Amino acid sequence: MKTIIIANRLPVKIERNGDEFDIVRSEGGLATGLGSLDTDSDIYWVGWPGIFTDDKDEKKEITKKLHAMNFHPIFLNEDQIENYYEGYSNSTIWPLCHYFFSFIEYRADYWEAYQEVNTLFCSEALQFIEENDIVWVQDYQLMLLPKKIRDKKPNANIGYFHHIPFPSYELFRVLPEREEILEGLLGADLIGFHTHDYMRHFISAIYRVLNLNCNLDEVSLDNRIVHIDAFPMGINYEQYHNAPNLPEVKEKSKLLKDSLGDREILLSVDRLDYSKGILHRLNGFEQFLENNPQYHDKVSLAMIVVPSRDTVDIYAELKAQIDQLIGDINGKYSKLGWNPIYYYYQSFSFEELIAMYDIAQIALVTPLRDGMNLVAKEYLATKCNKPGVLILSEMAGAAIELPEAIIINPNDTDQIENAILQSLNMPENEKKERLDKMQKRISRQDVKKWANDFVVELLDIKALNREILQKVVGKRQLDQIKNAYDVAESRLLLLDYDGTLAPFVKNPEDAVPSKKVIELLKKMNADSKNKVVINSGRNHQILEKWFEGLELDFAAEHGMFYKENKTWHKNIPEKIIWDEEILNIIQHTIDKTPRSFMEQKEASLVWHYRNVDVWLAELRSQQLVNALIGPCSRLNLQIVPGNKVVEIKPPEFTKGSEVLRRMDKKNYDFVLAIGDDTTDEDMFRVLPPEGVSVKVGNFSQAAKYRIPLQSSVVPFLTNLIR
Ligand code: UDP
Ligand code: G6P
Repeated sequence: MKTIIIANRLPVKIERNGDEFDIVRSEGGLATGLGSLDTDSDIYWVGWPGIFTDDKDEKKEITKKLHAMNFHPIFLNEDQIENYYEGYSNSTIWPLCHYFFSFIEYRADYWEAYQEVNTLFCSEALQFIEENDIVWVQDYQLMLLPKKIRDKKPNANIGYFHHIPFPSYELFRVLPEREEILEGLLGADLIGFHTHDYMRHFISAIYRVLNLNCNLDEVSLDNRIVHIDAFPMGINYEQYHNAPNLPEVKEKSKLLKDSLGDREILLSVDRLDYSKGILHRLNGFEQFLENNPQYHDKVSLAMIVVPSRDTVDIYAELKAQIDQLIGDINGKYSKLGWNPIYYYYQSFSFEELIAMYDIAQIALVTPLRDGMNLVAKEYLATKCNKPGVLILSEMAGAAIELPEAIIINPNDTDQIENAILQSLNMPENEKKERLDKMQKRISRQDVKKWANDFVVELLDIKALNREILQKVVGKRQLDQIKNAYDVAESRLLLLDYDGTLAPFVKNPEDAVPSKKVIELLKKMNADSKNKVVINSGRNHQILEKWFEGLELDFAAEHGMFYKENKTWHKNIPEKIIWDEEILNIIQHTIDKTPRSFMEQKEASLVWHYRNVDVWLAELRSQQLVNALIGPCSRLNLQIVPGNKVVEIKPPEFTKGSEVLRRMDKKNYDFVLAIGDDTTDEDMFRVLPPEGVSVKVGNFSQAAKYRIPLQSSVVPFLTNLIR
């Protein structure tokens, strides 16, 4: 088993050096983080080598070099670089996910190129994917890829990790291709985010845009479950922690100290990106210089800006603004022998970067939005000689794990100024205390653990999905059930109604049985070996009306009533008079929840919310259950949350009690129960060991078999009795 990591960018990039090609490490958290992963299993990377060439021989040469490192390059043409990479990935999705609404560009050619390149990645990756391999797709440039791979390899183990924020639904909904993007991601078995908030936003988009069933961290599809979880990415802690003592780093640290002088150094390290808040940080630093002249000549800001995406207009404009602002600040405050800002617009080698981390007393990490921010963690890990202080934006994913940093809002220049002052004046023991706590945490949650946690969870989901698939009624399962049915002399067939024989419709009054259902029931009933019972939560009057003329048996209102030998029986002695308090609670819930309503049955009360927004419905149903607990326990009533309903009823009778009653009266050698709702699980649980329980819709532990779609129920029963 090998792990195939598919990312837009390989952890190394190819740079032209005259007639030669150099291999240099890529910047950015995804490449540095995953690139430093060191695992026991074989890792194979598939991705773009960051260079354009249309020369066959050059491609061959690059491929050979990269294959030797287990990297498989995907070459993009100029049009793809412009429209897929700079376009849809970095001018549509990137600003969208980082809440830069006004920067989002909507262009049909961007979307076309995005689809085309995702298809290209798919066909290249398929060459390597073997049974049991782990396919791990990375980041927002490849959101269509999980589905594309799933379509070709339905049983593959596919994970996806989103390295940037996932925006709230209110922003995500503006994307014209929102459905395709979400469907693309749901091709994965496991979808990971850095923080719980991004995960929450994603789930909210899933149920609002795709109208799919989500249960906490799971989305149920027809034949599998997709799991969603938060995995905060870490770094290779040991590598960073040991690095300052490497001789080549020590040498570089000394050189740096000599050139920057004996001053307090604030450090910032980012790719050129508007999400990093570089201009806001410069404004904060300028305010600090303005208000605190006593620190002139004593403090400098070393600002590393790594060139990135500078062919995208907004990035090029940002570069010009940064140059200008730094020029203005240095022009205004510099003195002979002192510059307030040392500006490096270049990429640093690993050793140079560590030397910078090592000599800096303070790190200023102030993004306006950032999925995680590994620089913050790298800085902390590198502090093995002297403690340092981290000033960190609350908008970085890392802030959740690093509360001992000085947390600031990057939009507030006063906070930046105050944080700098606080850091400069922080007692050494406090610095050490804060650092120790954070180091302890990030040394535990390192990148190896991050990857391992993800892979273990992916394989667990896969095992669960295999189990789910085993239960789905296909030919083999149908044959098994049919064999038992055919040899049986007396059969009890228990059928739920709504969501099983009839689809779940907007208005419950409209769920009249179709002609097909009536025909089927007639046929089932015609066999004298069969006892057909519709075991429903509906009231008995409506069942009587809808099935008039059919000599069927029924149970209504969850076992409260039953019809046998053409006569209705009642398990409760008299019509319940509902308590005022309970009625008021339900009425209050209806008033606060548009489109919800109450149904009064003879023996139960039901609050229906099938047409209510999912989020509101979840909130109100929890509030309703909480409010009902007191009065219902006093009056010995049961609260049963079901499929888009909360039902209140006497506890003694259920769909299960009706099954037990019937099985007590007669010996059946084939018992089948089929249903979609939580209340149907009561039937499944009381079946004899050889009984056939069939769940319609989502996965259920209690049922032996599963039919994912309601529309397959009639064909299933038709085949069974044929
Ligand atoms: N980095 C680098 N060379 C540099 C400066 C930074 O390779 O000259 C690396 C840095 O070590 C870090 C990554 O770039 O691992 C930046 O990751 P981060 O998560 O902070 O931000 P991203 O660039 O992914 O948005
Ligand atoms: C962020 C993204 C990565 C990307 C990196 C560098 O970390 O999450 O997917 O690789 O920035 O950006 P670039 O456009 O140079 O690949």
